[in-house]
Amino acid sequence: MPDRKTVAAGDPAPPATLVIFGGAGDLSRRLLTPALVNLTRDGLIGDALDIVVVSRGADEGIQTQLEEHLDLGDRAIKAAWARRRKRVSYVQGDFDDAQTYADLAKRMADEANVAFYLATSASFFGTIAEQLAKAGMLEQKRGFRRLVVEKPFGHDLASAKALNKTLLGVMDETQIYRIDHFLGKETVQNIMVARFGNAFMEAVWNSRYVDHVEITAAETVDVGTRGAFYDATGAMRDMVPNHLFQLLAMVGMEPPNSFGAEAVRNEKAKLLDAVRVPTAAEARKQAVRGRYTAGSAGGRKVGAYLQAEDVAKDSKTETYVALKLLVDSWRWAGVPFYLRTGKALAARDTEIVIQFKRNALAMFRNADIAKIPPNKLIIQIQPNEGIDLQFVAKKPGPVVDTAEVSMDFRYKDAFDLGQRTGYETLLYDVLIGDQSLFQRADMVERGWAIVQPILRQWAKDGAPEDYEPGSAGPASADALMARDDRTWHPID
Ligand code: BG6
Repeated sequence: MPDRKTVAAGDPAPPATLVIFGGAGDLSRRLLTPALVNLTRDGLIGDALDIVVVSRGADEGIQTQLEEHLDLGDRAIKAAWARRRKRVSYVQGDFDDAQTYADLAKRMADEANVAFYLATSASFFGTIAEQLAKAGMLEQKRGFRRLVVEKPFGHDLASAKALNKTLLGVMDETQIYRIDHFLGKETVQNIMVARFGNAFMEAVWNSRYVDHVEITAAETVDVGTRGAFYDATGAMRDMVPNHLFQLLAMVGMEPPNSFGAEAVRNEKAKLLDAVRVPTAAEARKQAVRGRYTAGSAGGRKVGAYLQAEDVAKDSKTETYVALKLLVDSWRWAGVPFYLRTGKALAARDTEIVIQFKRNALAMFRNADIAKIPPNKLIIQIQPNEGIDLQFVAKKPGPVVDTAEVSMDFRYKDAFDLGQRTGYETLLYDVLIGDQSLFQRADMVERGWAIVQPILRQWAKDGAPEDYEPGSAGPASADALMARDDRTWHPID
């Protein structure tokens, strides 16, 4: 039976139980609990939300463990946590043991609305869904039964399809919430409002005016202690078909008829569908990868990737990727989209740069053309969230001389951003049944289909190119742009 949204956005979520598999772990402590407490403080969830943590180990004081990242010095947070804390309980059990689900089913017998959150290793996603179904816990008899799946959703196209098949074998698409935490970021949600709420933006948002688009997610952090996960994953799988493609879809999609989940997701899916899947030859030319050596980034010493804990000595895993994509749609024909992401880079900088075409510059023929750079619109996702329009102005004085200036809007100057984790909106949407900010099966599969030829090529090739920590990535990334007579916007 399809699940339907019943609560209007902005109203408190209905009474429900949130069952968090792996709920004693890092994600739950660092992000989910603080987000639930913020929602309680803001009146968006009331007392009638129970939290059930399912975990393999014995209960070592779950309430206290979940407090780890809460600012209990803040009175409002302390009061909200006091209300949440007493509704947290614990079920011990292995995720592949039927007994765990029998215990859980007993607890859930009287519950109407239940959301199951899979904050576990991805290898358990299919098993947990099937076990929940076997125990009858996904049947929507008196209320909703929803499943929230963290990333990674599959490791490649085949495994993503297999996981979708497993999930859709036991529940309806309307019950599945595939998380992409980038969609919880305020600035990402603002892309749609900025584009479609402002006539002047939408008017120039096409191949007639846009020269190219750059999407960057640069980090200064290295892989740290995540070597085991990261070495089997790499920068492409970790960031591109999910996070960066969501940004690509937000920037490139056609206006939806409404902000309704299906209207928005249909347009995003259409955009992803229009992204050209590279041929083997294009995969070789249009994608580059790198791996950081030893040095320092973000003011910290960084050991070489190959020396990191749990990384194979003969690893070929990339910590940086840059690629060029083309979108075969009426709006974007001929406009390249350049995407890049990496660890241990010069700065933490997630941004989208729309670079506009140069004007006809004939009338400035006596001026220094280099001083009349093309306009750029920079959507700064993080940190220092904002939108910056770079344009050219005349310098005061008797001769016509120009300079690049900027109209720079920063979120924090206009709004109180408060302390947020980015999971508030996502958790609230799960509880009210709004799937707009979640990935649909077809979008996930299309993301993998686009990067698959590149992954296939890399599996045959040697090791990635070295780059120095604290730099902007490997030289081949600059060469990728230079071939098109372009340069990357600086990472800063
Ligand atoms: C995660 C990746 O999905 O996103 C991490 O697994 C990455 O490797 C992180 O660091 C980046 O997210 P954010 O919100 O810190 O930019």
